Amino acid sequence: MNAYDIVKPALFSLPAETAHGLVHSLLGVAGETPLARALADRYVVDDDRLAVEAFDCPFDNPVGVAAGFDKNAEVVPALATLGFGSVEVGGVTARPQTGNPRPRVFRLREDRALVNRMGLNNDGAAVVGERLRRLDAPGPVGVNVAKSEHVSGADAPADYRETYEQVADGGDFFVVNVSCPNSQGFEELQNRDRMAAVLTELQDAGAAPLLVKLSPDLPEPALADAVDLVEELGLDGVVATNTSTERPESLKSPNRVETGGLSGEPVTDRATETVRYVAGRVDVPVVGVGGVATAEDAYEKIRAGASLVQLYTALVYRGPPLARDINRGLLDLLERDGFDSVEDAVGADL
Ligand SMILES: Cc1cc2nc3c(=O)[nH]c(=O)nc-3n(C[C@H](O)[C@H](O)[C@H](O)COP(=O)(O)O)c2cc1C
Repeated sequence: MNAYDIVKPALFSLPAETAHGLVHSLLGVAGETPLARALADRYVVDDDRLAVEAFDCPFDNPVGVAAGFDKNAEVVPALATLGFGSVEVGGVTARPQTGNPRPRVFRLREDRALVNRMGLNNDGAAVVGERLRRLDAPGPVGVNVAKSEHVSGADAPADYRETYEQVADGGDFFVVNVSCPNSQGFEELQNRDRMAAVLTELQDAGAAPLLVKLSPDLPEPALADAVDLVEELGLDGVVATNTSTERPESLKSPNRVETGGLSGEPVTDRATETVRYVAGRVDVPVVGVGGVATAEDAYEKIRAGASLVQLYTALVYRGPPLARDINRGLLDLLERDGFDSVEDAVGADL
């Protein structure tokens, strides 16, 4: 039993967002005290075989924190001390947003999943941009750039640009979020022409490295269009995938009826299949996200073509040792299968 197993019942007795806020406050404190050193000693796995170079960024290990966990760039150093190789902050919008009314995050405990309809609450790009500029992060920091509320599809390119320009000098890579199911009009944003307009506007603004984050719910023709666009526009990478609006039959928790995006264990295979599809068709790195909770999960996405993986939901269920356990487990799996490094294993099953 680890320390998280002891505090988890107390955290889980609180509403999900309250628990998240508490964990955030603790992480904020931990990142700035001598405790940070002790945490890093405990959780950082330092091994060259884990290093990955992707879209010109050097990652010490392939396990990153997915967008949404640190929406406002407040706990990046603390997450690094927990052993994560990178953090994607955001989604960030041009101005501050309060998001949807609470409750808006739900645990599906029996399914090791979450449903959220946060609605892109964040402090706004000016504040997040300033925080990012002051950050001294050991690993690459991505910024997830999202569409502001009440902005139409036609006005989306200018809106994304406005956000990007405020965070431009604070991020190491930029992820265009066109796949948040809690953002109104998101289906339209994944239409080929709309997506192309947003991406070219950001390229024109100088956004690089530029990645696009896709939904796991895209029907194959739309996914094929998105993949073509990545090649045509020369994007630097793809993040696959965001949360899902689908509800697999297998879900047991009563909270499955809540509206929002599903994440965690039930989306694992779907996300991996999207990684495989995309990685088989593009030459740029793919970041695999969706249900990664163990070294085996991460390894499966890597073998399916992911150069890096990210996670959010498993952090809620498994707590601080997660990145360490995945990184250690990955080293064992690499050794078992005769790979010299993570990079060697990328796409082994393609
Ligand atoms: C509460 C919550 C908020 C999220 N917010 C964002 C966001 O702002 N932007 C984004 O691209 N993805 C967001 N996500 C999606 C995650 O980044 C990730 O793609 C998804 O949860 C699947 O990974 P997981 O199964 O490891 O959680 C959010 C997820 C959760 C659970």
